[in-house]
Amino acid sequence: MSEKELLEKQKEYTELLRDILPLRYSTEHPKAFVHTYGCQQNVADSERIKGMLEQAGCEMTEEKEKADIILFNTCAVREHAEDRVFGNVGALKALKRSKPSLLIALCGCMMEQEHIAEKIYKSFPYVGLVFGTHVIHRFPELLFNAVTSGRRLIERGTDDGMVYEGLPIHRDGSFKGWLPVMYGCDNFCTYCIVPHVRGRERSRQPEIVLEEARSMVSSGYKEITLLGQNVNSYGKGLGVKTSFPELLKSVSAIEGDFWVSFMTSHPKDASKELIDVIADSAKVSPHLHLPFQSGSDRILKLMNRHYDVERYMEIVDYAKKRIKDLALTSDVIVGFPGETEEDFQQTLELIRRVEFTSLFTFIYSPRQGTPAARLPDPYTHEDKARRMGELLKLQESISAKRTAAMVGRRYRVLVEEQAREGVLNARTHSGVVVEVQGEPGLIGSFMTAEITEARNFILRGRLI
Ligand code: SAH
Ligand code: SF4
Ligand code: F3S
Repeated sequence: MSEKELLEKQKEYTELLRDILPLRYSTEHPKAFVHTYGCQQNVADSERIKGMLEQAGCEMTEEKEKADIILFNTCAVREHAEDRVFGNVGALKALKRSKPSLLIALCGCMMEQEHIAEKIYKSFPYVGLVFGTHVIHRFPELLFNAVTSGRRLIERGTDDGMVYEGLPIHRDGSFKGWLPVMYGCDNFCTYCIVPHVRGRERSRQPEIVLEEARSMVSSGYKEITLLGQNVNSYGKGLGVKTSFPELLKSVSAIEGDFWVSFMTSHPKDASKELIDVIADSAKVSPHLHLPFQSGSDRILKLMNRHYDVERYMEIVDYAKKRIKDLALTSDVIVGFPGETEEDFQQTLELIRRVEFTSLFTFIYSPRQGTPAARLPDPYTHEDKARRMGELLKLQESISAKRTAAMVGRRYRVLVEEQAREGVLNARTHSGVVVEVQGEPGLIGSFMTAEITEARNFILRGRLI
């Protein structure tokens, strides 16, 4: 079946759902509760799933208790993420008992692992539909089958290397939006499950990305974040001459007052060209999220990261030189199998050298089927937790120094949300959060804030 035929078929299922769902749930607009775990890629997928639910006549609800359909879009990146899903699915048992027509569905990265799909099937008999990341575009058909067959349905599909365009979309935000530019990952870092559950890299056509960006700008979006597991691989295999820096440049050339940022960039192929585009475009956020994972060349090799500390520092130094008000953020893993005290000290050394704005820190979590999970791991969890504590203390002192240096300066900010009564959270172009006094009516607007105080890593400012 061609892509077009396949999507036409899904439209037919959507029409059928519009007829049968109200009958099954005895209400004109059945309610769907969708909860997303994990990264922005999953958030973006959920926005498409919600779009399909809406087209099928459903309304979204934030209250599980009111829902006719509950869907969890899951993340497999660390054990802790999976445990939360298991806990929350377990907690739905009573709800399902009191409301037998409730459909509980699970999708996303966890469901692409055979042993997990099996465990769900065995341990949670009240879960009615399970589907993986490769069949999201067939959600109307899966929902139809789950609702009409009266049987439990597991559909994991296979990675067909395709990108399905034209799916409806229900965006969560009205002024900040996610825009996937590519899916999957080919890097196979030895600790990571993502390539196993998301399949091979495939990019969206540049015109399609640009068209979506244009429509977001014209509907009032103030910040667009381009998404990919490694955006530097964008364009490979598309058969057209393009690259991520070019795409970023084209998006930033769209007429309008908006910011554009991106996630994530792999250090092995982050280019000077990319940094130049950030430096030279007023719309591109002066923010580089460049995960280093470890400051030890020995560990980086075991992780299959394809760069060393010297190469990492080369990009960092170039970015610091070129980009005004640059914020550098990163991911780091503590306690990779066999990481010695010396390796760990090298990680701390790198953190001291770079002085990151903020860090996302993770204790290594073995993932079944990945090469690192088979490596000997002589250190205890206590050793790792102690290292993590030390690392966090170091980063806190760096963050405190960096935020203190912002006091007295003025920044253009995007007002994002209400923190509490009378207080709003705003974000600078480089992504630093500032608390300001103001009314909720300002949410979604660009303002200027003067930073008045930095305390306990919270920046306070006043709107000008
Ligand atoms: N594609 C992104 C990362 C996606 S996963 C990149 O390569 O930069 C987000 C982060 O989770 C990773 O950067 C890594 O720091 C962390 N992570 C991934 N697998 C992990 C594991 N098994 N244990 C602990 N942290 C992990
Ligand atoms: Fe995982 Fe590495 Fe791919 Fe990032 S680049 S998703 S860490 S395999
Ligand atoms: Fe998790 Fe899947 Fe993202 S494993 S981090 S939701 S790609």
